Amino acid sequence: MAQTGEVPEGGGTVIVRGKLVLTQPEKGDYRAFSAVCTHAGCTVQEVEENIHCLCHGSEFDIATGEPVAGPATEPLERFDVTVDGTDITLDGPQDA
Ligand code: FES
Repeated sequence: MAQTGEVPEGGGTVIVRGKLVLTQPEKGDYRAFSAVCTHAGCTVQEVEENIHCLCHGSEFDIATGEPVAGPATEPLERFDVTVDGTDITLDGPQDA
């Protein structure tokens, strides 16, 4: 699905094709979330210190997906990932 080198430490990247956000909150700790904002369904667009939805300004924690700035009140859906060497794959049927 993605390579570890695409996901910066302390940040992340949006995989638009798969509607996913991949993050690496700590070195070697990769996480995946749905890129569909829980406010009104926009696709989140940027990852810096938080995951940003530019539609109305919601921000989500890169480690937990929990909202840290409104208007969203629900966390981004989280998916489990497996890292094999430099390959990141989603566990389960949602693999993009
Ligand atoms: S849809 Fe994301 S903040 Fe409104």
